[in-house]
Amino acid sequence: MTPRQIALVRESFARVAPIADVAATIFYDRLFTLDPSVRRLFAATDMVAQRRNLMQTLAVVVANLDRLEGIIPAVEALGRRHAGYSVGADDFETVGAALLDTLEIGLKPDFTAETRDAWATAYGLLASVMIAAGASVDAASQEPTAA
Ligand code: HEM
Repeated sequence: MTPRQIALVRESFARVAPIADVAATIFYDRLFTLDPSVRRLFAATDMVAQRRNLMQTLAVVVANLDRLEGIIPAVEALGRRHAGYSVGADDFETVGAALLDTLEIGLKPDFTAETRDAWATAYGLLASVMIAAGASVDAASQEPTAA
């Protein structure tokens, strides 16, 4: 990510952070509207805690965008845990769309195309690390094939 993209993500996140719970509520509403089948993954989830978890994780990522190497192991571990929650690669696309929609709803009219691009880049990086780590869990859990 360019320094400008990092600054745009940070500035926009700083404006959402004070209304973190409202933003996270909008996010999950949007997610379940875009794909109602995703709701079953959260059937047993405490959504109050989940909203806080999501926003706290995003805050750590946003703070570390200029030194992502340092948080890669934690992001990989998060990705491996998500494989255990039955989250698939397709779900990451839906979550990315819900995230961008939430920012647009919350920040309009200041959510410019450039800021949207910056967020899409940041989310894409995060998602790709999580998906790759999750795929390695899936591969490791396959039954060995008879030789
Ligand atoms: C950048 C993307 C994502 C981030 C930052 C994120 C963050 C988190 C965090 C912090 C937790 C708390 C539990 C833990 O740390 O393991 C969690 C749990 C969970 N996430 Fe995500 N997540 C992401 C993507 C997704 C996607 C794509 C889905 C699928 C729709 C998803 C579904 C879930 C579910 C089902 C749980 C478990 C809830 C429970 O404990 O009952 N997440 N996520």
